[in-house]
Amino acid sequence: MDDTRGRLTRDGIRIYEDADFAGMHKAGRLAAQILDDIIPMIEPGRTTEEIDAEITRMVEAAGAVSATIGYKGYQHASCISVNHVVCHGIPAAKVLKDGDILNVDVTVIVDGWYGDTSRMYVAGNLSRKAERLIQVTHDALMKGIEAAKPGNTFGDIGNAIQAYVEANRMSVVRDFCGHGLGRVFHAPPNVLHYGRAGTGPVLEEGMFFTIEPMVNLGRPETKVLADDWTAVTRDKSLSAQFEHSVGITADGADIFTLSPAGKFHPTY
Ligand code: MF3
Ligand code: CO
Ligand code: CO
Repeated sequence: MDDTRGRLTRDGIRIYEDADFAGMHKAGRLAAQILDDIIPMIEPGRTTEEIDAEITRMVEAAGAVSATIGYKGYQHASCISVNHVVCHGIPAAKVLKDGDILNVDVTVIVDGWYGDTSRMYVAGNLSRKAERLIQVTHDALMKGIEAAKPGNTFGDIGNAIQAYVEANRMSVVRDFCGHGLGRVFHAPPNVLHYGRAGTGPVLEEGMFFTIEPMVNLGRPETKVLADDWTAVTRDKSLSAQFEHSVGITADGADIFTLSPAGKFHPTY
């Protein structure tokens, strides 16, 4: 689209201007608000397509546009990934049952700016092992965000996430990554959730991107189902994901998708 603001680095990463942060905050806040507002719907007996229909309605009511409807043929306002689904779960007539864990991922466009965030929910009672997976995945994202500051590299972000996840004897998915965004949905760089400290492009003030680690209780390998979207763990182990959109400032990462209600983590 019309991503012509600021300038590009040697690695093709756009550097936005101070005034652009306000647009990203508005878009990010709406995406996060929608993830807050669906909390009461996440219950056993609900279908994932009912949740998606409500998200579609909320995006429209806000006067915003869904970034995912029509994106590469995708037809829904959210991805809803249940249990061993790693990401890109398609909302369907599938009924949630007690103990299911799910990621809901929403991307909205407000005044041309993209806000992309996802978080975990539980239907009914959370099992001990799912609780641990969700906690480690959430904390891994936060470790990645702590490493996101000028002078550090993208490898420092990936390394912080991978080291934390593996210290907890879980695995980081390699097959999907975070991404630059701004006035486009997916832009350079690929934000890997694993890697070596000190490698990759150096972070600079004005970069906008997502960090969205997917963590599996078992092996890291995934496969995409015949619908061409749904990614699942090959070993059928449980998977979790959290995603924030951030902008780099002089001091670190400015999180665009903070939960207005303070309910990003599901054990609120
Ligand atoms: N929101 C996802 C991401 O974090 C992308 C979803 S694309 C879709 O990048 F088409 F599957 F919705
Ligand atoms: Co994303
Ligand atoms: Co997303």
